[in-house]
Amino acid sequence: MMTDPNAYYAGGLGVELYDLFTGAGLLAGDIEFYLECARRSGGPILELGMGTGRVLVPLAEAGYEVVGMDLSRPMLDRAAAKLRERPELSQRVRLVEGDMTSFDLEQQFALALVPARSFQHVVTPEGQRRALACIHRHLIPGGHLILDLFDPNFELLFGSDSKAAPPREAQHPQSGHLVRRTVVARHTDPFRQTVHEVLRFEEFDAAGNVAGSEETSWSLRWSTRQETAYLLELSGFEVIDLYSDFSRSPPDYGREQLWIARARQ
Ligand SMILES: C[S@@+](CC[C@H](N)C(=O)[O-])C[C@H]1O[C@@H](n2cnc3c(N)ncnc32)[C@H](O)[C@@H]1O
Repeated sequence: MMTDPNAYYAGGLGVELYDLFTGAGLLAGDIEFYLECARRSGGPILELGMGTGRVLVPLAEAGYEVVGMDLSRPMLDRAAAKLRERPELSQRVRLVEGDMTSFDLEQQFALALVPARSFQHVVTPEGQRRALACIHRHLIPGGHLILDLFDPNFELLFGSDSKAAPPREAQHPQSGHLVRRTVVARHTDPFRQTVHEVLRFEEFDAAGNVAGSEETSWSLRWSTRQETAYLLELSGFEVIDLYSDFSRSPPDYGREQLWIARARQ
C-alpha cells in the first residue's frame, strides 16, 4: 500500500542519487537562469523545496543571502552536508524544515524561487493557493517569484508506456558503478490532475550484474498554462514573463512553464 505519495524524498537511492538525475533535459540551464534572475533582483532569496541545495549552493556561492525550505529531512541533510564542506557560505544560508503550504519565517525576500517542479508536489489546488499566499506574504512589494512547472504533455500522460521517458543512466560518484533510473509505472488521475510515478533505481557492478535495486515513487499535480495564470493572478501576482525553457524560449505545449511574476502590493 502506498503511504507516502512522495517517498522519493524520504531517503534511499532517490535522495542519494538526486543530483545525478536533475538539471538535464527540459531543466538544462536552470541554475544559470536563477543566477541571472538573482543578479536582476538582488537578495535575500527564498527557495521553497530546495532539496539537496542544487540551486541554493550556487546562489550562496554567488554571494546571495538564501533561505532554503524543504519538507524532507534527508534532502535537507544532504544540503547541510554540502554546506559543511563550504563553511564560508554558512553565514549567508539558513536551512529550514517546513511545508511550503504553511510557513512563517518572519522575513521578507526580494526573490522567491520554486525550481524543478517542486510546487507540483503540492497535489491539491487548495494547497497550491495556500503556498502562493505564504510566498506572497514573504515577498517585499514588487518582489519576484519564479515558478517552474512542467506543461502537461497529454500524449505522454495518457499514452501507452512506450511513450514514457526512456531510462536515465549515470555514474555513481562514490562507487563508479553505472546507475539507472527507470519510470516503471505511471498512474494518471485526470480528475485530480495528478500523475503518480513509480521509479526503479538499479546499480550495476563492473561486471554488469545488478548490485542493488530499489523502488520509490512521487506524485505531481499538473496545471494548464491558463490555470496557472489565473492562480497567480488570484494570489496577488502579476505575470511578467512566461518561457518554455531556461533559454527564454516562448511558451509552448508540453515543455516547461517557467513563470516570472511580481508581487502586487
Ligand atoms: C524536485 S525536488 C527539487 C529540489 C531543488 N529545488 C532542485 O531544484 O534540485 C522537490 C523538492 O520539494 C520538496 N517538497 C515537496 N513538497 C514540499 C512541500 N510541501 N514543502 C516543502 N518542500 C516540499 C521535496 O522534499 C524535494 O526536496
